[in-house]
Amino acid sequence: MSQRIYYTKPSITDLEVEYATDAARNGWGERCYEYINKFEELFKAHLGVKYAIATSSCTGALHMGMAALDIGPGDEVILADTNWVATVSPVEHLGATPVFVDILPDTWCLDPEQVESAITPHTKAIIAVHLYGNLCDMDRLLEIGKRHGIPVIEDAAEAIGSEYQGKRAGSMGIFGSFSFHGTKTLTTGEGGMFVTNSAELYEKVLTLSNHGRARGQTKQFWPDVVGFKYKMSNIQAAIGCAQVERIADLIQRKREIMSLYRERLSAYPDIELNAQHEGTVIGAWMPTVVFAQQTGMTRERLQTAFQAANIDARVFFHPLSSLPMFKARLENVHAYSIPLRAINLPSYHDLTIAELDRVCSVFSTLEIV
Ligand SMILES: Cc1ncc(COP(=O)(O)O)c(C=O)c1O
Repeated sequence: MSQRIYYTKPSITDLEVEYATDAARNGWGERCYEYINKFEELFKAHLGVKYAIATSSCTGALHMGMAALDIGPGDEVILADTNWVATVSPVEHLGATPVFVDILPDTWCLDPEQVESAITPHTKAIIAVHLYGNLCDMDRLLEIGKRHGIPVIEDAAEAIGSEYQGKRAGSMGIFGSFSFHGTKTLTTGEGGMFVTNSAELYEKVLTLSNHGRARGQTKQFWPDVVGFKYKMSNIQAAIGCAQVERIADLIQRKREIMSLYRERLSAYPDIELNAQHEGTVIGAWMPTVVFAQQTGMTRERLQTAFQAANIDARVFFHPLSSLPMFKARLENVHAYSIPLRAINLPSYHDLTIAELDRVCSVFSTLEIV
C-alpha cells in the first residue's frame, strides 16, 4: 500500500527549531515576553494593522473580541451557516443568539443579501468568515454594517495570505482573528491572534486578556474586571516568529498547490474549486472541490474513493444549524447542499508533485454521471 497522504502538515525548518530552542533555554526572566512581543510586531507589519495580541487560539481571540464589544444576552450575531463551530462557540458562551444565514454558491462565504434580511434591532455584530481562505464580499458587508451601525468582525482563521482589493483578510473589520493551529498555513502548534485598528478595543481586549488587569493599574495582582486567560507562550511565539519570517514562502506554496490542482482538474467540467474573484487573491489554505448537482456525486462516494487510495480527504463543513445543539435552518439551501457533494484536498507545504498527481488520479476512478 502506498504511503498515506495527509491533508495538512506544518512546515518546520531549522529556523523554527532554533528559535523554539532559544526560547526554551533562555526565554525566561527578563526575556519571558521577548518572542511574544516580536511575534506581535512581525504579524502587525505583515497584516498592516495597528494592534495585535497573541492568544492561545483563534477561539480565544474571538471570545475576547466579542466580550469587548459587549455582546451578551439578548443580542443577535449574524454568521454564515457554513463554518467551523469555533466561530459560534464564543457567541453561545457570551449568552448571545447566533443567527445562521446562507452562503454564496461560489465563494462559500456569507451572502450579503441574507445578512441584510436577517438584521433586527437586536443585531449586535456580523461575523465574516473567510472560509478555506476564500474571501467574503467585504465591501458589501462593511457597507451594510455601516448603514445599520453594526460592527463587522472578520474571522480570518483560515485566511492567512488572502487579500481583498490590496488589503489583507483580517485587517478590514472592527477586529480580526487568526488561528495558528497545526493545520494552518502559519502554525505555532496551537495559537491565535487578535488584531484591530481601534485603540479603544485594543485596550479593552488587552485588559481582558490579562485576567482583567489594566495596563495602567499600579496595584499588583489587582484585576478591575473579570477577564480571560487566553495567552500564547513565549515558546509558541518563537515558532511563530520563524513562521512569519517565512510567510511569503508559506503562502506562495499554498497558492502553487491550488493552481496545480486547478490545472490538473480542469479536465472535469462539472466541478468547482475555490473561487477567486477580480480584486481578490486567495491564500488557498484549503483547496476544495465541489461537484455540480447533476453529477450525482456524493460525499460518501468521495470519502470511499480517497480512503481506498490512502489519502486524507476532509469533509466540507456541515451546516452549523444541523448540529444537535442548534435548530435546523433548511432554508439555507447552499449550506445544506454543498457539503453533500464536496471534499477538501491535501495541500501541505511539502506535498510533492507525485503526491499531488496521486490525489488527482482519484478523480479518474470516480464515475461521474
Ligand atoms: C473559521 C475558523 N474559525 C475559528 C477557528 C478556531 O481556531 P482555533 O482552533 O485556533 O481556536 C477555526 C479553526 O480551525 C476556523 O477554521
